[in-house]
Amino acid sequence: MSGSATAQLIDGKAIAAALRAQLADAVAKLKAEHGVVPGLAVVLVGDDPASQVYVRNKHAQTVEAGMASFEHRLPASTSREALLAMVDQLNKDPLVHGILVQLPLPAHLDATEVLNAIDPDKDVDGFHPVNAGRLATGQALFVPCTPVGCELLLRSVIADPSGLHAVVIGRSNIVGKPMAQLLLAANCTVTIVHSRTRDLAGLVRQADIVVAALGRAEFVKGDWIKPGAIVIDVGINRIEQADGKTRLVGDVDFASASQVAGAITPVPGGVGPMTIACLLRNTLIAARYRLGLDGQV
Ligand code: GUN
Repeated sequence: MSGSATAQLIDGKAIAAALRAQLADAVAKLKAEHGVVPGLAVVLVGDDPASQVYVRNKHAQTVEAGMASFEHRLPASTSREALLAMVDQLNKDPLVHGILVQLPLPAHLDATEVLNAIDPDKDVDGFHPVNAGRLATGQALFVPCTPVGCELLLRSVIADPSGLHAVVIGRSNIVGKPMAQLLLAANCTVTIVHSRTRDLAGLVRQADIVVAALGRAEFVKGDWIKPGAIVIDVGINRIEQADGKTRLVGDVDFASASQVAGAITPVPGGVGPMTIACLLRNTLIAARYRLGLDGQV
């Protein structure tokens, strides 16, 4: 190996911007033809700094796409009953098509209980067991935003991944499991590896497609990547450098992996920008679904 090969960079920022522009057109069309403006309600409990940034970005991009944005900021001391009452009110509100309760919730609140209280037909996060079941049985309605974004990035370099071996690193309900379902639906051969897997590196070496979503900085090394493989890096980790400054890195060691892969997503600017764009896509799907229109956008 000369080590001189360099992977194609998958530009998530540009692909997300193009998707948002396409959604804005579809929203304008829905409004003109049906008089309906898709509405997204976001509930933020407490003052987690990262969540505040997410929620601000969500609001701005929702409005920019021509959708209605409803923000509900509740204090960290909010009771279980008050939060469930808020969810119930949003479930009943006809102007609200999508509901997102920002995670993480303060420790005294049970995230599973709260997420399960969201009307599955408004669950634009795709976290409700009904939506996980719909995805697993070929009836997908709302698929979690990050895996959908990963699939769109993958398909930007390979339109049909049918028959390829995809290895998903991580088994969370938010990324790993739904990602595996999407790849299976796309006719990939799918392996899920995780912290208890024996010979994780050996399995990754067999992958035509690697999706890294385990949350450990630069865990996947370049010599685990099959030459020409497509690498989608979901990780966002802040690491401290020798000079004391911090830097954002993925779950993949980009410097070495990009010498071997055929195509790779950078961090930042890869999967990250796709997530909110896919949330807006799910909100449009929710509005269309309620009107009895085809869910596809
Ligand atoms: N916190 C960070 N990302 C997300 C997300 O996609 N959905 C929700 N509900 N909370 C998050």
